[in-house]
Amino acid sequence: MSDPEPAVDAATIYDAFADKYRAYSETKSAYIGAVDDLIAGQLKTPPSVMLDYGSGDGVRGIELAKQVAPVRFFQADISDEMVARCKELGHAEQVFSVNTPDWAADLPDVDALVCLWNVLGHVPGTDARRNLLAELFSLMRPGGKLFIDVNNRHYVGYGRWTSLGRRIIDAIKPNYTRGDIRFDWNIDGVDYPASGHFFTPAEMVDLLKSAGFKIEKAQSVHYTTGDVSNDLTEGQLFYVASKPA
Ligand SMILES: C[S@@+](CC[C@H](N)C(=O)[O-])C[C@H]1O[C@@H](n2cnc3c(N)ncnc32)[C@H](O)[C@@H]1O
Repeated sequence: MSDPEPAVDAATIYDAFADKYRAYSETKSAYIGAVDDLIAGQLKTPPSVMLDYGSGDGVRGIELAKQVAPVRFFQADISDEMVARCKELGHAEQVFSVNTPDWAADLPDVDALVCLWNVLGHVPGTDARRNLLAELFSLMRPGGKLFIDVNNRHYVGYGRWTSLGRRIIDAIKPNYTRGDIRFDWNIDGVDYPASGHFFTPAEMVDLLKSAGFKIEKAQSVHYTTGDVSNDLTEGQLFYVASKPA
């Protein structure tokens, strides 16, 4: 059997998808709205500095920022097309391209960092995911909070038996690479060989803790209804984690 074609990086795919992103995102509004409500509920006191990391076209992060009213608001993404859209909206004080070396040099210490809709799952490989979380940790001030959601490998909607089987094998013999997926993403008639990652709750605990975070809350948000549950098989995995003071 021949090896699969190497996956195209997230920046290339999101550059190609940027024009279609808004319409696609609107098909997920129940889940997205529920995650945003959870975050707004946690940020009753306006943060001094908020960063929307992996901002996409910027619209969602800006709506959230309007709700929580940070004193200073920044956005960052890896896709030049997405960065351009955020800049066009003009709400963030600065929009960073994370491809630029030392991109965060001018960023003040962050006290609310949102990293939403499986941004971490676009990062290939566990080591790189650990490095990204360590980088986000380093951008935050002590006491600052990270809000992050990721795709759930144990989601019961994939089938009760599938979910149960995955939970058993992942408990007995953990191997994070089982959450790696490959697929062709068709954008404007072109098939992009894409990759992604689905996380287990134990993996998220490991990744967040090894970066230095303290986990404050772990919940699931149903992909179609937006229902929030403490049962971590019921939807997207959502975490509130803090940098110890
Ligand atoms: C599904 S979109 C989510 C966008 C936005 N957070 C939202 O919820 O609408 C994922 C975004 O993550 C960005 N991304 C992927 N890998 C990244 C990385 N390593 N650093 C920063 N952004 C990244 C992509 O370019 C894309 O805009």
